[in-house]
Amino acid sequence: MKVAFFDMHRFEKKAFDEVNTRFGHEITYFESRLTPETAKLASQFPAICAFVNDRLNEASLTILKSEGVRLIALRSAGFNHVDLCAAQKLALPVVRVPAYSPHAVAEHAVALLLALNRKITRANSRVRELNFSLEGLVGFDLFGKTVGILGTGKIGTVMATIMKGFGCNVLAYDLEPNPDLITLGVQYVQLDEIYSRSDVISLHIPLNETTHHIINEASLAKMKPGVYLINTGRGGLIDTKALITSLKHGHLGAAGLDVYEEEENIFFQDLSESCLQDDILARLLTFPNVLITSHQAFLTHEALVHIAETTLENISSFEKNGLLMNEVRL
Ligand code: NAI
Repeated sequence: MKVAFFDMHRFEKKAFDEVNTRFGHEITYFESRLTPETAKLASQFPAICAFVNDRLNEASLTILKSEGVRLIALRSAGFNHVDLCAAQKLALPVVRVPAYSPHAVAEHAVALLLALNRKITRANSRVRELNFSLEGLVGFDLFGKTVGILGTGKIGTVMATIMKGFGCNVLAYDLEPNPDLITLGVQYVQLDEIYSRSDVISLHIPLNETTHHIINEASLAKMKPGVYLINTGRGGLIDTKALITSLKHGHLGAAGLDVYEEEENIFFQDLSESCLQDDILARLLTFPNVLITSHQAFLTHEALVHIAETTLENISSFEKNGLLMNEVRL
């Protein structure tokens, strides 16, 4: 099938090219992000493939439909960037990759936590300048600390299991508790208890109307002073302005962020020769106790191969018999 890939990056192309030798789709890669302005590139393509910062709003979807697109294949798990209501109205099916490597994301959350706690980036810069002083590098043992996990689906479950391995007490909050985690000794509690008891809080819930800005001024105020907040979920889970206020007051101990609510026009791009226009992100970058990565938690070899396999299989099923594997619906 002819497929137009939007927002394609070199790091993923290799996996798609290799895996596609088994599927034989006619792929055209576009570096442009999908927006209403670029949607016309999809003309002549019955399927398009989009990533997390492509804008699948009503305007883009309407153009895609009028250009003859019949399938939207997301090469991501999250689908908060798709106007599903508009897609359904236009009878444009949307499929996704529900799981590619929960380990990749959970391990990155742990990497952020360890790097922040043990001041790894600061220590590395110092040592390179031949400054071998230990002042300002004191961390804490994770053993015996309480870790609160919001969302114990695929990724949160791996995160909880890893934290148990560190000897942490793990608290969790989810609409549907996972019995395997209860057996492992994870305690499901209400949100307020997570906030008041946790030394570390890690976010693994999807972004939707209920969870938007779940971390806000009120919830931050309920957290223990010095708490470490890790977000590999979605930027919109956190009210960034409230986060900055909490950091400025020294209430929040540290923040490890792989996602940012306004990342769409920034992440995945090399802006090193331009001037950062986002003042909120610029402020965040000034805190020594904030560590930001640009939505790379998923980025392991295993995950990329999995993403390519599932995406191309989703497209093949649709092409062969109209079957919508891994469809996302309202
Ligand atoms: P999942 O669907 O397996 O788990 C989500 C869990 O959250 C479920 O157990 C669900 O019951 C729970 N949940 C949903 N709404 C809730 C609410 N209002 N309150 C409490 N619990 C709620 O999803 P998975 O695979 O674990 O991924 C989680 C999120 O991680 C994704 O939605 C995505 O946004 C993000 N993600 C980030 C990546 C990155 O590279 N930074 C890569 C992949 C996913």
